[in-house]
Amino acid sequence: EAIEKGGYEHFMLKEINEQPRSIADCMRGRLDAKNGRLVLGGLRDYMNKFQNAERIIITACGTSWHAGLVAEYLFEEFARIPVEVEYASEFRYRNPVVSEKDFVIAISQSGETADTLAAIELAKSKGATIFGVCNVVGSSIARATHAGSYTHAGPEIGVASTKAFTAQISVLTMMALKLGYQRGTLPESRYIQLLSELETIPGKVEKALKLNDQIEKIAAEYKDSRNFLYLGRGYNFPVALEGALKLKEISYIHAEGYPAAEMKHGPIALIDEEMPVVFIATKDSSYEKVVSNIQEVKARKGKIIAVVTEGDTSVRNLADHVIEIPATEEAFVPLLAVVPLQILSYHIAVMRGCNVDQPRNLAKSVTVE
Ligand code: G6P
Repeated sequence: EAIEKGGYEHFMLKEINEQPRSIADCMRGRLDAKNGRLVLGGLRDYMNKFQNAERIIITACGTSWHAGLVAEYLFEEFARIPVEVEYASEFRYRNPVVSEKDFVIAISQSGETADTLAAIELAKSKGATIFGVCNVVGSSIARATHAGSYTHAGPEIGVASTKAFTAQISVLTMMALKLGYQRGTLPESRYIQLLSELETIPGKVEKALKLNDQIEKIAAEYKDSRNFLYLGRGYNFPVALEGALKLKEISYIHAEGYPAAEMKHGPIALIDEEMPVVFIATKDSSYEKVVSNIQEVKARKGKIIAVVTEGDTSVRNLADHVIEIPATEEAFVPLLAVVPLQILSYHIAVMRGCNVDQPRNLAKSVTVE
């Protein structure tokens, strides 16, 4: 096992650190920005269905559902097709309205999640086209779908998903860009620009991983907190959800992820000097609004840990801690912003003496309802 961990203390840490490579592996042979090429083999025969879909329905569970939520923003922004993101366990029992005009994307690391599989069978019976985004080759979900694209992240052992999540987002990003380009909603020059930026992501993730020591110190300061709040907007809202999920899964600290602007409708009541609030406050279209949310938390003496874009000075003046990640396109920020949150939850869990790779009560894949 020590050999399998490749010198790391835990699989989770190894998998976090593998992300520059796993994201590059996921894009290899598919993305070639220099020649303006983006090829997803699995999509080829279904591109027509995809392009002409009236609606995209994304179904998944857990972390994969969070990747689906990021994809909702991606598909709507670039391809202008309405998207619904459904918990497979809700979707399957709701008698949902689905037809042959719907394109369903099922996301699953293991490809064995029982609820996701049942959601697929239901949508299939109603005539929809089902596309899988799985990590495990030949898994049940990969076999049950009409077509799909593998994430190629390599085996993920840690129960808390890390590299599979960023690989899922990578595949979904490529799908959204391709779809937008084909539909004409994403102009060619912008498409090429986005492809080039996407190619820089593995290198930028590598840079984000260097934040480890700084984040370890922050973890030491907050490891005994009883609650955590994670706030973000737009593309960073799913990142807030995922950051909170990582923390609760492995450290057993209660954590909630929320859209930053919704804070005033509830979570703000929880804020006092005991409450660490993690903001994802990168330089994007909602930056100014998130900064005012930070001010509101500060006024109530909450402790502020902010993930910001390199070079940011405004948030530095307000926050107790700032974690700087490289700048990128707004749509690609989740791939970078989630990394420090994975690292934060990892260190907090280790410091609390938790079994990081096999947290209590959780399973890597949930093959029963
Ligand atoms: C379990 C795992 C999570 C995972 C979820 C969905 O809860 O512990 O890490 O996100 O199942 O699994 P899937 O394999 O379908 O992505």
